[in-house]
Amino acid sequence: MEKILVLDFGGQYNQLIARRVRDHRVFAEILPYTTPLETIRANKYKGIIFTGGPNSVFDMASPHYSKDILSLGIPVLGICYGCQLIAWMAGGTVKTAPVSEYGKIELTVKQPSPLFENIPEKSVVWMSHTDYIAAAPEGYEVVATTPDCPCAAMQNEKKGIYAVQFHPEVTHSEYGNQLLYNFLYAVCGCKGDWVMDSFIEDTVAKLRRQIGDKNVILGLSGGVDSSVAAALLSRAVGKQLTCVFLDQGLMRKDEGDFVENTFTTLFDMNFIRVNCGEQFLTALKGVTDPEEKRHIIGTEFFNAFWNEIRKQNDKGYFAQGTIYPDCIESGKGDADTIKTHHNRVKMPDDVEFLGIIEPLADLFKDEVRRVGERLGIPKELVWRQPFPGPGLGVRIIGEITAEKIKTLQEADAILRDEMAKNGYERNLAQFFCVLPGVKTVGVMGDHRTYEQLIAIRAVTTDDFMTADWARIPYDILAKVSNRITNECPNVNRVVYDITSKPPGTVEWE
Ligand code: XMP
Repeated sequence: MEKILVLDFGGQYNQLIARRVRDHRVFAEILPYTTPLETIRANKYKGIIFTGGPNSVFDMASPHYSKDILSLGIPVLGICYGCQLIAWMAGGTVKTAPVSEYGKIELTVKQPSPLFENIPEKSVVWMSHTDYIAAAPEGYEVVATTPDCPCAAMQNEKKGIYAVQFHPEVTHSEYGNQLLYNFLYAVCGCKGDWVMDSFIEDTVAKLRRQIGDKNVILGLSGGVDSSVAAALLSRAVGKQLTCVFLDQGLMRKDEGDFVENTFTTLFDMNFIRVNCGEQFLTALKGVTDPEEKRHIIGTEFFNAFWNEIRKQNDKGYFAQGTIYPDCIESGKGDADTIKTHHNRVKMPDDVEFLGIIEPLADLFKDEVRRVGERLGIPKELVWRQPFPGPGLGVRIIGEITAEKIKTLQEADAILRDEMAKNGYERNLAQFFCVLPGVKTVGVMGDHRTYEQLIAIRAVTTDDFMTADWARIPYDILAKVSNRITNECPNVNRVVYDITSKPPGTVEWE
């Protein structure tokens, strides 16, 4: 299998570079800049990409690398810091500019280059640097410039070494994707043999080697990530895998049964379902504050889950469905708590494992979904919308009761059913019902009613940081409203939330 090495010098977009390469059907792996040259030589890479980094090449505490890497006969592409590093290694002049160049900048291509095939003479690129190459090293020619950067791209075509000051991996660089494609295909001679099947085969082989004859425990939430991790592990080690699925009674209608059926019938594993709805309801009795509810649900979950794991009493491995964006979010430090979200599972001190396994830690969400489809996970699960850890607990405003859960589950199931029937399911990032716990007056036949209100929330968004309310066709809304008020005995009114984020959040709590 052809492989590209992304040599990590500490830049923030390293995973994105690897991902863009994989999008072009070439496998990319990321290794730290401390990887010995011998390992790199032995791995027979088709090409090497030096990433950006936050440092200056003058600072000897910054990550450097032996300049012998430029003589391995393997094509190299340096990006940002990686670009300056190549200039510095090869004897060019790197200087610190009085002002940084930051943002979208116009690039002018001056020389023909295989790296710039099918890229117009002028295009927009994304820059973020203070140091710059004042003079290219001997044997290198300047290929492109910007108004403030005399060497925005350079090449030593004979040696297959290329360097760009801008970031081709971010979408703000208009032809960045084309540039990476050119590096892979025109410079490195890749054929593009990598598909998700190769990822699955490789990961399964790696998991088998790592796990050996030991056992693995995975906390299965029924969400996309843990489901795909479960399916991968099942393929790798079958019955050595035990999935613990905790049903806290706050899932959508019939969801617990669906998860159980899927994993017990389609995959080879031990499956343990722990039903602890009652316990959660008792702990939540009388609690109305959203953060307190989250905290209680989190604590109850922690206790119930780890009690079950202790019962298993197996010092094998512990697996998690962590995906790449979780790794960045977990490492981000103390952003203000707008709402507490959970990614990686916390672990009690008294539970010990041989190690943690995170088979999806390098993948982005859509890659995880593709792996899931290949592994035969049902579409409903693979394409499942995000569902908050505290479940319906944050969609019932005020105190949570068994009756309110039932009402919300029924209303939400109707909404999902109508959206699916009308082919609208995949159009939106997220849609669901909320039970605000407000009673309003209505009329049914000759009777006055005083019953619950249901709100519909539906959003379009790319990243959930901002969102717009979805323009669901009125006919669908009318049908949903009609069915909810007819089929849910204690609901007499339905409203549609038309608030964007900000100022509203997606969830109501
Ligand atoms: P908000 O409401 O913050 O939602 O605009 C953004 C996305 O995050 C999900 N969300 C949560 N997920 N635990 C989670 O695991 C939570 O407490 C939580 N709160 C919100 C929400 O469903 C949306 O996709």
